[in-house]
Amino acid sequence: MASCLAFLFVAFFAFTANADVSIDCGASESYTDERFLAWTGDEGLFQNSQSEVVQSSNAISHVMSTLRVFTTRKKNCYSISEDKGSLLLVRASFFYGNYDRKSSPPSFDMHFDGNEWTTVKTSLDKLVYYEVVYVSKSDTTSICLSQTHPNQFPFISALEVTKLDSKMYSYLDPKHALFLISRVAYGAPATVRYPDDAYDRIWDPETGGSGITSVASDAIFIGTVNAPDNPPQAVLQNAITISSTSHTIGIIHGFPDLSIYMNLYFSEVTQLDTTQKRSFRVYIDKKPVSAPIIPPYGEVTEMSINFTASSNTSFLLFADPDSTLPPLVNALEAFYISDRLTDGTDSKDVEGLSELQKAFSDVLQAFWSGDPCLPSPYSWEWTTCSNDTIPRITALNLSSFNLSGELPDFSSMDALVTINLQNNSINGSIPDFLGALPNLKELNLADNSFSGPIPPLITSNKKLKLVVSGNPDLCVSSKSCQTTSIDGTTISSSVPSGRRKKSNKLPVILGTTIPIFLIFWALVGFLLHHKRKTAAIAAITTDCLTLVHSFFLGIQGQTGGANNMSGKNGGAVINEIKVNFQDQTTTENGNHSEPQQ
Ligand SMILES: *[C@@H]1O[C@H](CO)[C@@H](O)[C@H](O)[C@H]1NC(C)=O
Ligand SMILES: *[C@@H]1O[C@H](CO)[C@@H](O)[C@H](O)[C@H]1NC(C)=O
Ligand SMILES: *[C@@H]1O[C@H](CO)[C@@H](O)[C@H](O)[C@H]1NC(C)=O
Ligand SMILES: *[C@@H]1O[C@H](CO)[C@@H](O)[C@H](O)[C@H]1NC(C)=O
Ligand SMILES: *[C@@H]1O[C@H](CO)[C@@H](O)[C@H](O)[C@H]1NC(C)=O
Ligand SMILES: *[C@@H]1O[C@H](CO)[C@@H](O)[C@H](O)[C@H]1NC(C)=O
Ligand SMILES: *[C@@H]1O[C@H](CO)[C@@H](O)[C@H](O)[C@H]1NC(C)=O
Repeated sequence: MASCLAFLFVAFFAFTANADVSIDCGASESYTDERFLAWTGDEGLFQNSQSEVVQSSNAISHVMSTLRVFTTRKKNCYSISEDKGSLLLVRASFFYGNYDRKSSPPSFDMHFDGNEWTTVKTSLDKLVYYEVVYVSKSDTTSICLSQTHPNQFPFISALEVTKLDSKMYSYLDPKHALFLISRVAYGAPATVRYPDDAYDRIWDPETGGSGITSVASDAIFIGTVNAPDNPPQAVLQNAITISSTSHTIGIIHGFPDLSIYMNLYFSEVTQLDTTQKRSFRVYIDKKPVSAPIIPPYGEVTEMSINFTASSNTSFLLFADPDSTLPPLVNALEAFYISDRLTDGTDSKDVEGLSELQKAFSDVLQAFWSGDPCLPSPYSWEWTTCSNDTIPRITALNLSSFNLSGELPDFSSMDALVTINLQNNSINGSIPDFLGALPNLKELNLADNSFSGPIPPLITSNKKLKLVVSGNPDLCVSSKSCQTTSIDGTTISSSVPSGRRKKSNKLPVILGTTIPIFLIFWALVGFLLHHKRKTAAIAAITTDCLTLVHSFFLGIQGQTGGANNMSGKNGGAVINEIKVNFQDQTTTENGNHSEPQQ
């Protein structure tokens, strides 16, 4: 039973920091790192996972020295309470460090809020991280790891969830997530992140390829208010440029057939005199796609662009005819654009599941969070889902779950075809609504402690296959109800009719662990504001027994960009992106269908 309890881990931090939650996975203590970011461990969050330590000879940092590995279940989720509609930047980091001494870095899948994120490919000796920006669709956001290969156990070293200013990354509509490919500070002497970047985005220094030179700005202050995506001043203090106006700066090439979103940041590096002019445009496949860009001195111009790339798309900066100076660029962010994010399982079903979780909270509350059905093969183990764009729950199998107490009203789950509650300790009367579920064909209530008569709505339902054996206190006919039960013991003749009053429906239930998060709300309510570090995390582990056919056209083929924080070779953004594309495009065909809802 103890293994059925999840623990809430709530930590309070007095620091000012930007990440709402930074979890040092596998760590037991909370601490502040050398950059004054507060980290919290995740000990006690998961019952069926181990915390591990990387081999000390491989250690690269305190945060990366521990990890949490999930060996027993197929789907493991961190659920983090955030205001609904928050713009979140989530970074998941993986440092294998040969913790298991098998020299075998695993590969596995990662999801967020019912959407596929990416296939994580860990490295023997490098830190790998993935980042996604999206708008949370409920009060909690869930990040889940799923095993996809035998003996390749998912693990995670760090999970950071940062709330961004809602005006950021708003160039595209919020129904899409952005998966980071690359975030570059051209010409920068070192990686830029917190505290230079208030959101702890990681800007990798790049020097560009042959013919490219780095230049430093002589501006004392570079104002960033004109850039909607709040680049840190530190990434604007340097730039790359090229020797002459007749040359181009090639930003990136080797795209797969994917939708790309890019931010480019331009700031003049010196005060130009009247004879000088720097003016250039962005060209995609030799076609200009921007107005002339004239970088301002002491300020920044941001350009955002989205385009569908192909393998030989070229992306160049080329000087305008009247420019006396070659193009320059200070910083870049490139993302894949996700397909439309899922709306999740039908809210009526989510609501019904929530009632069940509340009624049987000791068993059901803790383990299941995130979307009950999505992404598709990873539904909760006790639910079977339809393969609609907005999935419906067609079967409940809570057989042998050790449930005790009375059945709640889950009549909103009107797509149910099968309900199996066999071998539990459910007592009270059999609720009427079970006879009125329009699609129900099988109802197995055997081996419980139901009492009273079987409601007429059920007995008169001809298409329903009902099993009620093994309920000694149940009256199986109206005669026996008045006298004795089937096993001969006398029972009261005043058992309730089986009608239960309808519980009030909660106004909006998008998560499925509401009571946990009501507790969070209470805590978060007085803690949470955006420059304050708060950690309120519940972790939930879910087996996946129910394999539904791969059906969800709208979310196939999302990918995330992998970045190696260490071992970068100079000027390698193009190569790195190429490698990432190659790594991640085996399932891509660029032929995505968008669900219409
Ligand atoms: C079933 O639940 C009861 C409490 O309701 C508990 O005492 C018992 O240990 C549980 N049994 C199993 C097998 O989990
Ligand atoms: C850019 O994104 C918008 C949706 O936000 C889309 O309608 C448009 O087609 C995209 N443009 C390109 C060139 O992909
Ligand atoms: C891309 O390259 C292929 C050959 O590799 C060529 O056939 C195709 O026309 C090119 N497409 C563009 C848009 O340049
Ligand atoms: C229901 O769950 C039980 C125990 O988890 C399992 O043995 C049984 O096969 C399941 N039935 C269906 C129809 O999935
Ligand atoms: C009934 O459920 C309990 C757990 O509550 C389990 O230990 C037992 O094996 C189940 N019995 C049958 C016959 O499935
Ligand atoms: C059902 O069992 C619970 C204890 O598990 C008890 O508190 C409750 O009164 C029972 N209800 C009925 C109707 O017997
Ligand atoms: C749903 O799955 C069934 C059987 O697995 C299949 O026949 C049907 O085409 C699928 N529907 C959708 C919308 O994918």
